[in-house]
Amino acid sequence: TYLVTDNCIRCKYTDCVEVCPVDCFYEGENMLVIHPDECIDCGVCEPECPADAIRPDTEPGLEKWLQINTEYAEKWPNITVKKDPLPEAEEMDGKENKYEQYFS
Ligand code: SF4
Ligand code: F3S
Repeated sequence: TYLVTDNCIRCKYTDCVEVCPVDCFYEGENMLVIHPDECIDCGVCEPECPADAIRPDTEPGLEKWLQINTEYAEKWPNITVKKDPLPEAEEMDGKENKYEQYFS
């Protein structure tokens, strides 16, 4: 599966949802997640993210993000249509440790 990781938080550009062939993105207040059981590993979303927040789970060190994507994909609503990024997206792009400070 692919996973949404830290840099999505408080950016939420949503370009990713437009290209997913199986519509497996789910939306929280400050970030999106991918449903790991629904993702077919096509990889087309990864280069679409302006914040470079989407990663294949084959990369090392993503256990925390697998857990977060799995948990919140079950709790948050599905999103399939792109919307405006969060107003602070540009300013927040690239900030460290957004999960600890801002996750919701
Ligand atoms: Fe959707 Fe493909 Fe991205 Fe998985 S890798 S979330 S199926 S676009
Ligand atoms: Fe987040 Fe990137 Fe999608 S910032 S909403 S993963 S395009």
